Amino acid sequence: MDKVFTVSILGCGSRGHYTYGRCMSEYFADKFKIVSVCDIDQEKIELAQKDWEIPEENCFLDENEFLKEKRSDALVIATQDRDHVRMCVRALELGYDILLEKPISPDEDELYELLEAYKKYDKKVIVCHVLRYAPAFLKIKEILDSGEIGKIVCIDWLEQVTYWHQAHSFVRGNWRNDVETSPMIMQKCCHDLDLLQYYADSKCDTVYSVGALTFFNEQNKPEGAASRCKDCKYIHDCVYSAERLYVEKWKKDFDWAFDKPDVDDNARKQGWPFNVVDLSRPITEESIRRAYENSQYGRCVFDCDNNVVDNQTVVMQFENGIRANLTMTAFTALPGRKMTFHGTLGEVEMDEENDYIRISRYGHGTRFLSIKEILKVAINDTFGHGGGDLMLVRDFYDALAGKGELGTTLERSIESHLMALAAEKSRVNGEVCKVHKN
Ligand SMILES: NC(=O)c1ccc[n+]([C@@H]2O[C@H](COP(=O)([O-])OP(=O)(O)OC[C@H]3O[C@@H](n4cnc5c(N)ncnc54)[C@H](O)[C@@H]3O)[C@@H](O)[C@H]2O)c1
Repeated sequence: MDKVFTVSILGCGSRGHYTYGRCMSEYFADKFKIVSVCDIDQEKIELAQKDWEIPEENCFLDENEFLKEKRSDALVIATQDRDHVRMCVRALELGYDILLEKPISPDEDELYELLEAYKKYDKKVIVCHVLRYAPAFLKIKEILDSGEIGKIVCIDWLEQVTYWHQAHSFVRGNWRNDVETSPMIMQKCCHDLDLLQYYADSKCDTVYSVGALTFFNEQNKPEGAASRCKDCKYIHDCVYSAERLYVEKWKKDFDWAFDKPDVDDNARKQGWPFNVVDLSRPITEESIRRAYENSQYGRCVFDCDNNVVDNQTVVMQFENGIRANLTMTAFTALPGRKMTFHGTLGEVEMDEENDYIRISRYGHGTRFLSIKEILKVAINDTFGHGGGDLMLVRDFYDALAGKGELGTTLERSIESHLMALAAEKSRVNGEVCKVHKN
């Protein structure tokens, strides 16, 4: 029988509760047992207690109280971006092995502070660059490493944020303001930047970036619009209206041309992003309307305190000569990443939403792979981030149990953050920036 590791969760929000907590308690219940939780929100503690039967004395509303002593074998840190390093350094001192949400931190000094503590205490830290573990993204690495398309010369990469996800997370939601959280290129694209350096198999040398907040600002507020959707005359017409995004879209996912056969509509209605807006169980039309009307999620998207960009492009030069460009944009109907690797002997293209990887060898034809089929063979589940969330938790278990190494190191995870910080500096200052100081 597998050893069962006890786990504490610090930050029981969307990721802490519904991703890692759920993975551990539903999918890997024979490997993990959640024994303690900490969150500043009493309602979140109560939901965690209910789901995992945590005794009252193991529930904490204060991080200092929680971090007074070690309460389990492992710890999940899923609080907000600027809390991670403070909590992680203290947890390393206590002797925890840690699953740490990305981004590690938007502050460069903190990245090195954590690295130092990690070396000193010699515990395991897995940063949740979940796409590193997603079967289709691993397949791409396998194809590139096989030499089938020769040497990679350049890479084209598109991150489709989608119009409603931008409105939900980056205009109304938690990541709207980089003073409170992190720049959008780090928050949304540290996965992409991490994968780019992984596929290029090289450190990034220089970056150049342009981007701006072009649309979600006061200049674009329609004539006579109210500051909250419930009071607005455009409530049923504006595509960003909270009534449309949280009630109409909850009733029917109207962005698709057809009902997605592999999506359980009931689970969709109780899941993200609706369970971020509304903590009711079950979520109903009335409860979600009430929730948006009384929260930040009911604000006009043209009248918020957001400052993060809604589109940004980064051009990268890697130390081994490979060049890449990444565009992140809010202005897409459908989500997912699209990318093409241009090699000396062929091309590989991946389109997540349209479910294919195309491999073309110049003069030797083209073949297609289905991403869903790759997923079915590897893990047979569609749980978050193309299976990456589940695979990362499994990898964490294997590392704890001494059955394998973590798929990526803290040093490698920090690389993507340095790339993001350099890209942001370039965007703000308009100059080409070095990723490393020397
Ligand atoms: N790996 C990924 O792909 C991915 C995806 C989404 C978000 N994230 C990251 O995960 C982290 C959490 O995001 P989320 O969507 O779960 O946010 P969330 O707001 O739903 O959850 C954060 C939780 O932390 C709690 N909290 C805040 N301060 C606290 C403190 N001092 N002590 C204890 N609890 C505290 C909040 O009450 C909340 O419940 C963020 O850093 C985010 O950037 C990663």
